[in-house]
Amino acid sequence: MSRAVQVIEVGPRDGLQNEKNPLSTDFKLGLIQRLESCGFPEVEVTSMVHPKWVPQLADAADLLERLQSLPQSGRRTVLVPNSKGLERAVAAGAKRVAVFIAASESFSQKNTNRSIEESLEQTGAVVERALELGLSVRGYLSTVFVCPFEGNIQPATAAHLTKRLLAMGCDQVSLGDTIGAAVPEDIDNLMNELEGVSPDQLALHLHDTYGTALANVTRGLARGIRAFDSSVGGAGGCPYAPGATGNLATEDLLYMLDRGGWEHGIERESVLKAAHYLEQGLGRKASSHLMAIHRSKVATS
Ligand code: HMG
Ligand code: MG
Repeated sequence: MSRAVQVIEVGPRDGLQNEKNPLSTDFKLGLIQRLESCGFPEVEVTSMVHPKWVPQLADAADLLERLQSLPQSGRRTVLVPNSKGLERAVAAGAKRVAVFIAASESFSQKNTNRSIEESLEQTGAVVERALELGLSVRGYLSTVFVCPFEGNIQPATAAHLTKRLLAMGCDQVSLGDTIGAAVPEDIDNLMNELEGVSPDQLALHLHDTYGTALANVTRGLARGIRAFDSSVGGAGGCPYAPGATGNLATEDLLYMLDRGGWEHGIERESVLKAAHYLEQGLGRKASSHLMAIHRSKVATS
């Protein structure tokens, strides 16, 4: 069985969208360039959501345009909430977009001001248009396990919506544990409902609020999933999901994959350098285990 795993870096988008103090476009470009040099197959670089809803990423168009002239390795993905977001992303040069819907009605309303049914309709149109324009499309399903407003989500509901995203034409659906509350049994329960869907079409997007993200990756690997989203330095969170903390830290994920003999093609040392750069920009220490170890080694050397 293949030991190849895809690690998708979402730090420049998910990592920065919840930061109190917005970072400059120059700083973000520096972060993306450092991450791209690590060898990620895909980096989610920004989102074209409404600037009033997420002011931290209001510079998305400018950032994307300026990225066009910088060396690229791997795919660059832009998160888009609707047709307007797609238009803006295409105008700024995007070749891959990520759409998002939620498995919880309340979260859908809070995050995007629309019901799940409205989301499905609008997102279907966005995917269709993006594919017509020759872009590729990734899908996110948020709150697949637990919603911050409604509590537990039925695995059958999450499985049904995952299939709807795939049927629209998303080449991969990233299953979002938006508030980082899931445990390995949740992964099993959902995968059981997803029987018939190839795990190759799935990714796990794990926030790490309760420290269970790596355990969930392990269970995901056992169930055949080979794509995982993570964020440099463990940054991240969703401004519309109270209680959500950062994403699984990329460097911690890579440590576990490396030690376990999984192949991903990413240089862990370079990720640590990117995490250090991010720490300087944010003015605080990264939350990851690997950065804590790195700091203690530097202090004692
Ligand atoms: P709305 O206010 O309902 O939008 O927001 P609307 O369609 O009624 O339009 C109102 C105005 O906004 C119009 O302008 C539109 O043109 C404009 P006006 O005519 O009044 O001048 N507008 C836009 N402007 C710029 N870019 C756009 C856009 N769309 C409309 N794309 C909307 C609806 C979806 C836009 C808003 O709710 C929104 O931006 N939400 C995004 C919230 C967000 O970014 N959340 C975090 C990302 S998701 C996440 O983190 C979860 C994930 O990581 C996975 C996981 O962890 O589970 C992916
Ligand atoms: Mg997220």
